[in-house]
Amino acid sequence: MRPVAPRPPLPALLALLWALLPGPGGAQTSVHPKAVIIPRGGSVVVNCSTSCEQHKLLGLETVLNKKEVASGSNWETYELSSVQEDTTPFCYSTCNNNEQSQAIMSLTVYWLPERVELAPLPPWQPVGENLTLRCQVAGGAPRTNLSVMLLQGEKLLSLPQPAGATPVAEVTATVLARRDDHGTNFSCRTELDLRPQGLGLFQNSSVPRQLRTFVLPEVRPHLAAPKILEVGTRASVTCTMDGLFPVSEAQVHLALEDQRLEPRIDRSKDSLLATARVEATPGEEGSHPLTCAVSLGNQRRSTQEYVTIYSFPAPNLTLSESEVPEGTEVSVECKAHAGAAVTLSWGPDGSPLPRAQTTLNATAEDDGREFLCSAMLVVAGEELHKHKTQKLSVLHGPRLDQETCPGNWTWEEDTPQTLRCQALGNPTPTLACRREGDRALLPIGDLRPVTRAISGTYVCRATSSRGAVTHEVVVNVIYRQSNLATILAVAGLIVGLAGTVGLAAYLYNRQRKIRKYKLQKAQEQAAMKLNSPP
Ligand SMILES: *[C@@H]1O[C@H](CO)[C@@H](O)[C@H](O)[C@H]1NC(C)=O
Ligand SMILES: *[C@@H]1O[C@H](CO)[C@@H](O)[C@H](O)[C@H]1NC(C)=O
Ligand SMILES: *[C@@H]1O[C@H](CO)[C@@H](O)[C@H](O)[C@H]1NC(C)=O
Ligand SMILES: *[C@@H]1O[C@H](CO)[C@@H](O)[C@H](O)[C@H]1NC(C)=O
Ligand SMILES: *[C@@H]1O[C@H](CO)[C@@H](O)[C@H](O)[C@H]1NC(C)=O
Ligand SMILES: *[C@@H]1O[C@H](CO)[C@@H](O)[C@H](O)[C@H]1NC(C)=O
Ligand SMILES: *[C@@H]1O[C@H](CO)[C@@H](O)[C@H](O)[C@H]1NC(C)=O
Ligand SMILES: *[C@@H]1O[C@H](CO)[C@@H](O)[C@H](O)[C@H]1NC(C)=O
Repeated sequence: MRPVAPRPPLPALLALLWALLPGPGGAQTSVHPKAVIIPRGGSVVVNCSTSCEQHKLLGLETVLNKKEVASGSNWETYELSSVQEDTTPFCYSTCNNNEQSQAIMSLTVYWLPERVELAPLPPWQPVGENLTLRCQVAGGAPRTNLSVMLLQGEKLLSLPQPAGATPVAEVTATVLARRDDHGTNFSCRTELDLRPQGLGLFQNSSVPRQLRTFVLPEVRPHLAAPKILEVGTRASVTCTMDGLFPVSEAQVHLALEDQRLEPRIDRSKDSLLATARVEATPGEEGSHPLTCAVSLGNQRRSTQEYVTIYSFPAPNLTLSESEVPEGTEVSVECKAHAGAAVTLSWGPDGSPLPRAQTTLNATAEDDGREFLCSAMLVVAGEELHKHKTQKLSVLHGPRLDQETCPGNWTWEEDTPQTLRCQALGNPTPTLACRREGDRALLPIGDLRPVTRAISGTYVCRATSSRGAVTHEVVVNVIYRQSNLATILAVAGLIVGLAGTVGLAAYLYNRQRKIRKYKLQKAQEQAAMKLNSPP
């Protein structure tokens, strides 16, 4: 290789002239290669040759850096380096006969895009709305062989579109967002197709961007909460919403006034259920907004309900005394708490007032009486009731009379019977009934069966701290004569045997009948004594 001889630079005008004027026939300048494609910044060797035997001038005109690498009698080769853009160098020659000619070559550079970028997607895309994807491509050449396409996953969204001539090419595609698109990746791809030039297909892809789609229905969440809540009680509050997608991404905010509740959240196919407990504490009385907000994507739906917290203690029901002797005046008073009104179950009927009072003269019938005071409070249009009861104990008795302890029982022997005898009073009296004579105890209760042994006159005594009373109880048991004895007596008379025995039996029977008669007489007298007024 010999160094390139310094050559006076040709005026550009002359070069243009040469380029425009075709050389006369005969003399021919050739260039090889006529068209070439090289990577940007690369180099190429160009061979300029002439067909004339003798030439005055042979050269290559270019704006590029050139270096003569070899030459022959009618040719010269140059290396063009650092080729940055498309250019059209040309070879020229002047033969000795002053014939001039030139040959143009086309030098094309190729390079891959410097930037392939898919514009950021919205953080959340509502299902059913159009989404426009935008891809920007900066650089790359030759642009006529550069196409751009948008992809979802590996699926083409649009046919490859030419990148065009602008320095930054933009390609768009519109897709209707669906549920199925949630979580899919979108990307942009460029293809520089230089296969016809024998170089191949060069692809570049953008960083993928993941799409998140969502569905949040226009309806409000459904909030179920008590309208009213008593201080000191708890209630559960639920908030539900259906038709959510993706339900796993839905968030719930549940708050009473500005106090945030910590709900338990259950998610099913497409619905969400938030459950929380609210507790009404003293001092919170009043109406409070309860809010439930469901947010998904960049949207939010909320509902508000009002919960009225109230305090409603049971009324104060007081008896002047809860235990009194009969004949004492007792006053009953019921007081309601602020805002409530009371009615007493006992006493005059009347419209509810904050306070109700009555008095009564305690009788034995009032013992154990329950006084009921009912308070009523209206909270948020709802009528609430609370009750309080008090029991009055009236000291009375002891009482033991014909009604509580019948004084005359007449039964047949061997029949089942029930003997009733009860002493009444407060405090409960103790009762003891003993038979006159042998002081045997009166068998009170079920008698199965009645035996003649219980016959007799008993004196019952009821005793309590308030005194003692007595009452007589007569029990008669009727029984039949012994048939066997009669038969024996008759048989004795007829046969005439053992007359003594028959007589003895007869005498014995007679004696018994007399005894019995006497007993009956005595009992009748006793009963008459009991029944006659004192
Ligand atoms: C340049 O071209 C001429 C004419 O075609 C040829 O004779 C010569 O060998 C070529 N030079 C090189 C280095 O290829
Ligand atoms: C394009 O692809 C080529 C080769 O695969 C790589 O060297 C180049 O960095 C890529 N360009 C961009 C902008 O990603
Ligand atoms: C989405 O775009 C298509 C055309 O690109 C249009 O026909 C359709 O009405 C649009 N849909 C909505 C919901 O905007
Ligand atoms: C590349 O560009 C050239 C020149 O514009 C054109 O003739 C050729 O068809 C293109 N090739 C492809 C594959 O687009
Ligand atoms: C989408 O791309 C992310 C990383 O950018 C990857 O983690 C995820 O698996 C891709 N999703 C799909 C469906 O290909
Ligand atoms: C209560 O009633 C009894 C009997 O009816 C009567 O003797 C007494 O005086 C009354 N007491 C009062 C305080 O009214
Ligand atoms: C009811 O009784 C309680 C205690 O005995 C008292 O603190 C309260 O003030 C009373 N309420 C009314 C309305 O009198
Ligand atoms: C007891 O009852 C019987 C039968 O019921 C009756 O004959 C008798 O007169 C009564 N005696 C008295 C004292 O009431």
